Amino acid sequence: MTDARTALVTGAARGIGAATARRLARDGHRVAVLDLREEDAETTAAAIRADGGDALAVGADVGDEDAVAQAVAHVARTLGPPTVLVNNAGILRDNLLFKMSTADFDDVLRVHLRGAFLVSRAVQAHQVEARWGRVVNLSSTSALGNRGQANYAAAKAGMQGFTKTLAIELGPFGVTVNAVAPGFVETEMTRAVAERVGVPFEDLLAAEAKAVPVRRVGQPDDIAAAVSFFASEEAGFVSGQVLYVAGGPRG
Ligand SMILES: NC(=O)c1ccc[n+]([C@@H]2O[C@H](COP(=O)([O-])OP(=O)(O)OC[C@H]3O[C@@H](n4cnc5c(N)ncnc54)[C@H](O)[C@@H]3O)[C@@H](O)[C@H]2O)c1
Repeated sequence: MTDARTALVTGAARGIGAATARRLARDGHRVAVLDLREEDAETTAAAIRADGGDALAVGADVGDEDAVAQAVAHVARTLGPPTVLVNNAGILRDNLLFKMSTADFDDVLRVHLRGAFLVSRAVQAHQVEARWGRVVNLSSTSALGNRGQANYAAAKAGMQGFTKTLAIELGPFGVTVNAVAPGFVETEMTRAVAERVGVPFEDLLAAEAKAVPVRRVGQPDDIAAAVSFFASEEAGFVSGQVLYVAGGPRG
């Protein structure tokens, strides 16, 4: 078990964020579970408490500057200053370029990039003060290019540049910054993809699994395990890295 810290996980009501929040709680951290609606975040927070952990549900839109400032201050007051941050909140608005609306482009960049920027900027004050911190950003294999995802691929590639730059700026204060780039993971996000293209989710899962060297799709806990490593005490000499967690080589 690592030293107990306060961890903040965005988009943690479900999927990868929920698995990560639960994993960080098992690692011994107090966990702030942030999502758009406090009542949705409470589901994950309640599960952590039922497992004997300490969790706080927080409702905030990561793209809203004032809401982020209030949320981070609330976490600091209630659970203690957050020094572990996982920027996980995300949305998809897929379409081919010629059909992609400006709103769909802007919305995706707003949640992933502006969101990670706003939350990281608010949390770094606590990390710098503590002279210790861990930031883990969720990128994606889509950063390498993916049909129908000009907005999402740009955001996820942007997360990698953001990660490397924060690693340089915050390293002198004992803060490491890394990215995890998952391949296809079974969550509500990928279920919605199946619905959008009109394919049964089970068929999409089977097709995706066939294309992966380890012959299965990812599960939220696969990603949570990688985040847990980057967040650990012993990962202190690893910074500015992008780890593809995709059942085979990428990047
Ligand atoms: N599922 C995959 O295959 C996959 C692959 C690569 C990367 N990712 C990335 O992993 C992260 C989690 O994905 P997931 O599959 O668990 O998605 P998901 O849709 O199941 O969960 C995303 C969560 O983020 C929350 N959220 C969305 N907008 C928000 C906002 N503005 N403020 C606060 N919370 C917000 C949602 O309410 C939801 O609870 C995302 O960044 C996603 O892009 C997912």
